[in-house]
Amino acid sequence: MSEYETIITESADGIGVITLNRPKALNALNTTLMNEVVAAAEQFDADPDIGAIVITGSERAFAAGADIKEMSDKTFSEVVSESFFGAWDNLSRLRTPTIAAVTGYALGGGCELAMLCDILIAGDNAVFGQPEINLGVIPGIGGSQRLTRAIGKAKAMDLILTGRQMKVDEAERAGLVSRVVPAAECLATAKEVAVTIAGKSSIAAGLAKDAVNRAFETTLTEGVRAERGLFYSTFATDDQTEGMAAFVAKREPDFRNR
Ligand code: CAA
Repeated sequence: MSEYETIITESADGIGVITLNRPKALNALNTTLMNEVVAAAEQFDADPDIGAIVITGSERAFAAGADIKEMSDKTFSEVVSESFFGAWDNLSRLRTPTIAAVTGYALGGGCELAMLCDILIAGDNAVFGQPEINLGVIPGIGGSQRLTRAIGKAKAMDLILTGRQMKVDEAERAGLVSRVVPAAECLATAKEVAVTIAGKSSIAAGLAKDAVNRAFETTLTEGVRAERGLFYSTFATDDQTEGMAAFVAKREPDFRNR
């Protein structure tokens, strides 16, 4: 039996999969689910046999946002003192690459959870949006920041101020998603991508992820400087020696993640 109430976890082939499992609430993100997703992701992150993590929902909904019923009676002092939503930030600190497999609704916190992942694979029925404005609030799990960095100010303002839903073709044109596939193939594709990443050097993958994330957080000069340092550091690893030796010898590399 799963140790979790609101998610299902599985691992195989060097990858971990977290499936949000509150179907009656369209996977609304309540506190239990937040804590369970973070705990499961951190457990996979600490496991040396796991090289990538997939987060997914159901065909109808990746997640329809933070749980409005749970949050509706909260007061200002409660959300402040609880650091409400704060645990989600832990996902941005994982070293292991994360992939969101998104089918159906990814609204509000659901869109924000997808954007917390490194790669976003979308089914052709995916719908994105930040409808918090319709509830008299604003995004609170990084949506105003990550959406704006991902798709630019013009579209982010449009979505966040009107609360409208964006279908997957528009989301792909805007640069929010990495790939669009038929909905029925979304999870399988995300798992394939995860297995591919898990086959690389996990040290190189973690550094590559770190380097790309710098582009979101710093200036070009600082980012290029950080990248150069991270690149140099790969020459301290056995995997660099192995990867280059394997290329020269025309064989597959055998990365040991060290
Ligand atoms: N919180 C709690 N329950 C939710 C929910 C949410 N975010 N989204 C859906 N549900 C529940 C519904 O209340 C309903 O439950 P009951 O059967 O008990 O009434 C069930 O899930 C099915 O939903 P609907 O009947 O509404 O399904 P639909 O197909 O008619 O509509 C939908 C689907 C358009 C996604 C609609 O459910 C919807 O608009 N949901 C809310 C979306 C939203 O506003 N998300 C933002 C939340 S705020 C947030 O996320 C803050 C932040 O930045 C972190």
